[in-house]
Amino acid sequence: MHTPVLLTEVIKWLQVQPDEKYIDATVGEGGHSKAILELGGLVLGIDRDKNQIKSFFNNLTGFKNRITLKQGNFSDIDKIAKDAKFEKVSGVLFDLGVSMGQLRGTIPGLSYQNESDLLDMRLDDASDETASDILNQYDKKNLYQIIAGYGEELKASVIIDEIFQIRIKNKIKTVGDLNRVLKKIGGGEKTQRRVFQALRIAVNHEFDNLSSALIKAIKLIKPGGRILVISFHSNEDRIVKQFINKNRLKQLHKKLIVANRLAYSFERSARLRVFTNSSI
Ligand SMILES: C[S@@+](CC[C@H](N)C(=O)[O-])C[C@H]1O[C@@H](n2cnc3c(N)ncnc32)[C@H](O)[C@@H]1O
Repeated sequence: MHTPVLLTEVIKWLQVQPDEKYIDATVGEGGHSKAILELGGLVLGIDRDKNQIKSFFNNLTGFKNRITLKQGNFSDIDKIAKDAKFEKVSGVLFDLGVSMGQLRGTIPGLSYQNESDLLDMRLDDASDETASDILNQYDKKNLYQIIAGYGEELKASVIIDEIFQIRIKNKIKTVGDLNRVLKKIGGGEKTQRRVFQALRIAVNHEFDNLSSALIKAIKLIKPGGRILVISFHSNEDRIVKQFINKNRLKQLHKKLIVANRLAYSFERSARLRVFTNSSI
C-alpha cells in the first residue's frame, strides 16, 4: 500500500482513539483509512470512484469488520453518514483531488501524458458532461472562467482563441488533441498541468462539492471533533479558510501545515488545515 500525502500530520492531528468513529471522505487507495484502522478507529470510507472503493476493499487484509465503504459524492456526506450510522464522529478527513492511480490511467483524460485517452475526466457517472464537451461547446466567457479562474493560467485568452480556431473544423476529443493546442501557443508543462487540472475541477464540480460538504461535515462531528482538509489548489484552500472564518470555527494551528517540499513533486502544493466546531 502506498504512503499517502501528509500521513504523519494527519495521524497527529486526528488524534485517533480506539473505537471512535472517523469518516474518510476521500478514501482513494486507502492509505489514510488503513492508518486510522490500525490505531483502533472505526472508519466510514467514501469515494466517488467505485473502482477506488473496490480495489481498496479487495487489497485490505484484516479490519474488514471495522470499515464501511460507500461509493458516493462527499457533497452527500450527511445522507451517507446517516445511512451508515456514522453521526457524531470524532473526525472527518478530506484529501482532495485525485490519486496517482487515477492520474496514471484509471480515469481517462486526467493526465496530459496519456495522449490517446479520450478527454473524459469524470470521477463517476453522475455527470453527463466530459472535458471534451466543455472544450467543444462552452462559449469564450465560460472557458475563460475555467482556464484562467480555476487554472490560474495567464495564457488563457490565447489558448481559448486557438481552441475556437480548431473546433470549427475538428472536435477536440483526445488528450493529444488538447496537447497540440497547448503546444501551438507555446505552453510548456506548467500550462498543461494547469489546464488539465482546471478542466477536471470543472467536470467534477469540485469547488461546489467542497463547499457543500464542509457545511454538512461540521454538523457530523461531536463537540471537539476535528475536520482535516488537505488541498492542492489555492481556491480550495481559500474555500476552507473562508468557511472557518465565516462560521467562527477554531483552527487548531497557526501556520498552514504543508507537505515536505522535498517529497514527490505531486505533493508539492499539498496543504492541511485542521479545525473544530468549538467557537474561537
Ligand atoms: C488524493 S485521493 C485520496 C487518497 C487517499 N487519502 C489515500 O490515502 O489513498 C482523492 C480521492 O478522492 C476522491 N474524490 C474526489 N472528489 C470526491 C467527492 N466529491 N466525493 C467523494 N470522493 C471524491 C477521488 O476519487 C480520489 O479517490
